[in-house]
Amino acid sequence: MSGQTVSARCTDSRIVGRHCCGPDAFLLDVEVEQELPLLRPGVFAMLSPANGTGPELGRPFSLYDQHGGTLRFLIQVMGVGTQALDRLEIGELVTLTFPLGNGFIVADPNRPVVMVAGGVGSAPFLLYARHRMQMGCEQNTWVLFGARTADRLYDAEGLAAAGAPMLFATDDGSQGFHGNVIQMLDAELESGRLPRDARFCACGPEGLLHGFADYARKQGLDAELSLETYMGCGFGVCNACPVETEPDGPLGSWKWARTCEVGPVFALSSIRF
Ligand code: FES
Repeated sequence: MSGQTVSARCTDSRIVGRHCCGPDAFLLDVEVEQELPLLRPGVFAMLSPANGTGPELGRPFSLYDQHGGTLRFLIQVMGVGTQALDRLEIGELVTLTFPLGNGFIVADPNRPVVMVAGGVGSAPFLLYARHRMQMGCEQNTWVLFGARTADRLYDAEGLAAAGAPMLFATDDGSQGFHGNVIQMLDAELESGRLPRDARFCACGPEGLLHGFADYARKQGLDAELSLETYMGCGFGVCNACPVETEPDGPLGSWKWARTCEVGPVFALSSIRF
């Protein structure tokens, strides 16, 4: 149920849907003309407009959802690459290189899992949560989702529909816990409402990931991170995406690892982050 490995390929694929899901974000549905197995949560694609209106290099996006050959991506409009994608209409083509990266290996059903998402970093967790629900893990799976404001809890209803218990946090207190998602995680662990022996999986902006990494190390949590790193090619050629490895960890025989190839999901114990 953790999703199969498929060789990456580059295609021009048609946009079959797009839906606004926040003041600066949208869901983009792309139809791929090939048989696809269930892909692993956390794998990503490089996306760019096929009509040449965007930057030459695509931008990386985690796979958000999959129904057969229709792939959904959660896109926050932040710069020229995402602005170009935002201008595309249904029926137009995107150049798509996928599936890339390792993704999360969905934990054993007996192991509690806590997903920690900030903003657009919720992207890998809809599939992860759905896989866990299909394994019968309603009682030991949680999704913690934080954002600056309630309207930036992108597609919160869609994510909740995966069926995992969810907890929300907003910096301004407009929904759920008043504070950031790390503070909420701390409160939940302190109260005993979440188990410390869970596997903790995090994705979000770099600041959140650093906060999560510091917190997880101090608390001795078993943690994995999906890194949001600048990427050029997405498949190991340009060297734009290095992360320093932990010398005593499983990747320690190399000082640097390419996030696109070895990651983007890393055990916290394997990297210096
Ligand atoms: Fe080019 Fe990783 S993005 S090597």
